[in-house]
Amino acid sequence: MLDSDFVRASFPALDTPWALFDNAGGSVPARAVIQRTVDYMSRIQVQTGASYDLSVEAGSAIAAGRSMAARLLNADENETVLGPSSTALCYRLAASLRATWKEGDEVIVTNLDHEANVGPWRALEETGIVIREWRLRPETMALELDDLEELLTDRTRLVAFTHCSNVVGVIQDAAAIARRVREAGALSCADGVAYAPHRRVDVKALDVDFYLVSLYKVFGPHVGMLYGRRDALMGGRSVNHFFVGEGEVPYKYEPGGVTHELVAALPGIGDYLEAVASRSAHGGDPIEAAFAEFTETERVLAAPLLDLLESAPRVQVLGGTDNDPARRVPTVAFTTEGKHASEIPEALDKSQLAVRWGHFYAYRAMEALGLIDQGGVTRISLLHYNTPAEVERLTRALAPLIGA
Ligand SMILES: Cc1ncc(COP(=O)(O)O)c(C=O)c1O
Repeated sequence: MLDSDFVRASFPALDTPWALFDNAGGSVPARAVIQRTVDYMSRIQVQTGASYDLSVEAGSAIAAGRSMAARLLNADENETVLGPSSTALCYRLAASLRATWKEGDEVIVTNLDHEANVGPWRALEETGIVIREWRLRPETMALELDDLEELLTDRTRLVAFTHCSNVVGVIQDAAAIARRVREAGALSCADGVAYAPHRRVDVKALDVDFYLVSLYKVFGPHVGMLYGRRDALMGGRSVNHFFVGEGEVPYKYEPGGVTHELVAALPGIGDYLEAVASRSAHGGDPIEAAFAEFTETERVLAAPLLDLLESAPRVQVLGGTDNDPARRVPTVAFTTEGKHASEIPEALDKSQLAVRWGHFYAYRAMEALGLIDQGGVTRISLLHYNTPAEVERLTRALAPLIGA
């Protein structure tokens, strides 16, 4: 287990009586991220691209931010597109690739994903792209390759899928999916937003073409990132001004540039991960070491919650209660027989336990499971910075509400 005092002191916003269990919605930012934002804004926020010293320093701070985002996914800087959010970046990518496709070409989307990696692709239907839906298996909340097989054709241009569900926390075999998609001659676009706060992402090992991450869920500021394999990014059409060349990657995907002060703060994520790694017995790459610590800490934190939910006969945990870190992250969604999804979070508010209910923008998944009328699911999402004491407060307050 991580040293909880050190971890908590690294996040100023955790100094609150509330126990935060809505972390899949967004993490709180690391102190180092806040400090870097303040430093950039108070000292060097001038126009970039000029020859004077301060302008050069501002440009270098932004470049260091891109470099950090790239390191987080084991990518290169020129494969790292930054923007306001994953959703916005996916819309840009869809528009860019559409310009290279023909009417009748096909895109496969899932009904498990957050809408961020569905809506932008489905919107292409109006332009003559054929959309096919890869459906989740309700028993496991998994995407099965056998089901994908039936949808792939020689017109498939891209398959958009989630690496991990933001609602139920079930991890999909992204490497196997990307491999199959590549064999079929199509591009893969994985949504890693719900995976990246919990596990080391290595886009090279996954061998995906595109990968989305929202850095405000990985202890950072509101910045989205899109990894693109170099050739895949070169192959899309620019969505920037006419005079920005097709070879200007990633700038051709960044109209208006990036949000300077937030991108300049991204190395603060690395500062935190390195501080975690320096206290870890895991050697080697600090990012790898930090995420190994998070994985183990989160497994321990999630165990009593999953045990409690399993013991409650009226509760159904979507995707099951298996706590194997290879299968799930500590994002847990459940329904309680006879209760609207809102009832439990609203009752927990009284104990200053921040939990949430709804469809979490995975509307199609909730619809497929017939859960819209009862308000979707109750979702409890942990991060390594939660403590065993907070989880105990939660399970104590939750038990009577779910009849455990
Ligand atoms: C799995 C997943 N994908 C995409 C998004 C959208 O991210 P953004 O807010 O950066 O557009 C979210 C946000 O909750 C998410 O959980």
